[in-house]
Amino acid sequence: MTNKPIEILKTVFGYDKFRGRQQEIIDTLIAGQDAMVLMPTGGGKSLCYQIPALIRPGVGIVISPLIALMQDQVNALLQLGVKAAFLNSTLSLEQSRKTEQQLLNGELDLLYIAPERLTSDRTGALFERIKIALFAIDEAHCVSQWGHDFRADYLQLSLLHERFPDIPRIALTATADNKTREEIKLRLGLEQAKLFLSGFDRPNIRYRIVQKQNSREQLIDFIRAEHAGDSGIVYCLSRKKVDATAEWLRSKGINALPYHAGMDAGLRAKHQHQFLMEDGLVIVATIAFGMGIDKPNVRFVAHLDLPKSVEAYYQETGRGGRDGLPADAWMAYGLQDVITLRKMLQDSNADEAHKRIEYHKLDAMLALCEQVHCRRQALLDYFGDRLEQPCGNCDTCLEPVNTWDGTLAAQKALSCIHRTQQRYGVGYLIDVLRGKATERIVKSAHDKLSTFGIGTDIDEQQWHSVFRQLVARGLVSVNFDQFGALQLTEACRPILRGERQLMLRKDLQPAKPERGRSGSRNTSREFAKAGDTLLWNALRAKRKMLADAQDVPPYVIFHDATLMAMLEAKPTNRREMSLLSGIGERKLELYADEFLAVIAEFVDMNKNGPIGLSDTMAESVALFRLGYNVKQIAQQRELQETTIYGHLAQSLEQGMLVLTDVVELPEQEIRCIEEAIISLPEEQRNALKPVYELFGGQYSYGILRCVRAALQHQTG
Ligand SMILES: Nc1ncnc2c1ncn2[C@@H]1O[C@H](COP(=O)(O)OP(=O)(O)OP(=O)(O)O)[C@@H](O)[C@H]1O
Ligand SMILES: [Mg+2]
Ligand SMILES: [Zn+2]
Repeated sequence: MTNKPIEILKTVFGYDKFRGRQQEIIDTLIAGQDAMVLMPTGGGKSLCYQIPALIRPGVGIVISPLIALMQDQVNALLQLGVKAAFLNSTLSLEQSRKTEQQLLNGELDLLYIAPERLTSDRTGALFERIKIALFAIDEAHCVSQWGHDFRADYLQLSLLHERFPDIPRIALTATADNKTREEIKLRLGLEQAKLFLSGFDRPNIRYRIVQKQNSREQLIDFIRAEHAGDSGIVYCLSRKKVDATAEWLRSKGINALPYHAGMDAGLRAKHQHQFLMEDGLVIVATIAFGMGIDKPNVRFVAHLDLPKSVEAYYQETGRGGRDGLPADAWMAYGLQDVITLRKMLQDSNADEAHKRIEYHKLDAMLALCEQVHCRRQALLDYFGDRLEQPCGNCDTCLEPVNTWDGTLAAQKALSCIHRTQQRYGVGYLIDVLRGKATERIVKSAHDKLSTFGIGTDIDEQQWHSVFRQLVARGLVSVNFDQFGALQLTEACRPILRGERQLMLRKDLQPAKPERGRSGSRNTSREFAKAGDTLLWNALRAKRKMLADAQDVPPYVIFHDATLMAMLEAKPTNRREMSLLSGIGERKLELYADEFLAVIAEFVDMNKNGPIGLSDTMAESVALFRLGYNVKQIAQQRELQETTIYGHLAQSLEQGMLVLTDVVELPEQEIRCIEEAIISLPEEQRNALKPVYELFGGQYSYGILRCVRAALQHQTG
């Protein structure tokens, strides 16, 4: 094997060029130096240790807390022809021994290991006997006690350096803030390590934050209109809401599963596995889900509740679009979110210093929600990363937000809070402002107040928006000891006194999005040419079959981006195929011929144009010719088997297929059915019911139709 990083990138991974600073990082490790890498989620951190591990003599040891994902990571590497294995608590004793033996024999390029294993005496003794290329500490922020992912075992990792001082180490994380970074350096003894900071922009993610009204309905509209049949993640704050939302989505015909820490561990692992294996599955989860998951084709990340910080928002949204294709980060946000999170913070038993930091973080998140300029600029700015121009790919760029002079409205709201003794919540205050004489209001004589009915010029929705912005900006606080009563803060005085103008965001009234875009059911992708849709589906079907046969997720065979490249280039031989991104030597060897055959079939079909067949029929027939049986086509296309038989019957009638290929029955039985059809009286020639009944339902209508179609072809 070659020893140049770029060659390995091409031959093993099938990629043309390094991303960002990958090359520099790889060179640093090859030279035997330590590195600390901060790169966004999906930025490509793994290659930074995988390639040096392949080049340096010995095995690369990767420490990761994500035990549930090790199998998948190893599977993906094996597909590339990289000799990888893992050691963690999910293995039996026998399996562990086998891996240890492979290590001792020098048969591995990469070993993934759980931190608690690493610090055991047994592992220590094992490591003394083998050649180690490097140590990679993935998700390094787990060493930080500030973050929510803290793992006590990570604190032991400093021992590595003491024990193996000559072996280079690389720590990697997507967590950006300074505090965490300093803590990683300190606790892992990486003060001397070279620091690699990447930009945080993920240009293919489109950020959108909408005003919350009925968030479930808004969510389903969003999914149906823009992501029907796509894989996605929906984040909720509580376990209860996760369960309820997943169930509700299912009831609306969306393939959704819940995931949270309160579920049985086995079921949780099952749902995660399904999410990786299947296309078009939506996972509804608490933040417990997602770290380190390398599913490249997550097309949307939706938030039904506000994340606690910009860091969390960035990480969670970053799980979309890892393949570089467009993805959506969508969130519904309202006043209640602010109230809930502030309350959770207040009630938490963290110490004051910690709480103060959390409050600041929440405020930054609120500021992002209330942004009237480019969201991406604001987001990157938070991480100290400057973007010169507005991005053109976020909601505020695409539909510029108007601001309005909300000074007067704010004064009305503030004085209404004041006149009702700061004892009421938003709903009540809005009723007073809009002059609604409810029983409660009349009883408290608030219909006699000077502020009663002074806000009829603004509708209820917009009053919610005003109050939300007042709270988000700290002009009004929420008193949780008084059931969420709104109270004035010092900061609001200049506005009440008319010394300060207040510009507010004009929230867009969400228009109902257009429903159901055309195209295949399995993907929201649209293609200019119908033929391309057919080929796209056939390529996906082929991928799914290969993946199922090996029990790996489809994207481990090829990413969507690679299938897209096939669709565009329509390669006709291995050499052309090898030029596409994502196809290294091993995958070329394993899969090129199968995919070339699919492409050839479709190019052929498009040339001759099957006579008189509609697209949907042509697709079934094409799949059939590629070796799928009726059941598989039905599954793949999400259609009934009888429908597929119907499609095939048409081609049989035109003599494009051979009956014995379609109907898997012995010759003799087919003869019997034919005879039964022929012996029908003239006026019943087209009825299949008598035949069906004659055989007591033994043969489905689909089969009977095909036999009849073939007969019709024979008799002209
Ligand atoms: N140079 C490259 N060219 C093309 N694709 C790449 C390149 N480097 C990495 N990728 C792809 O980008 C995807 C994300 O990479 P990776 O899993 O390493 O992300 P990560 O930085 O570890 O993210 P996370 O923080 O979520 O773990 C992978 O599917 C990988 O194959
Ligand atoms: Mg990673
Ligand atoms: Zn923008």
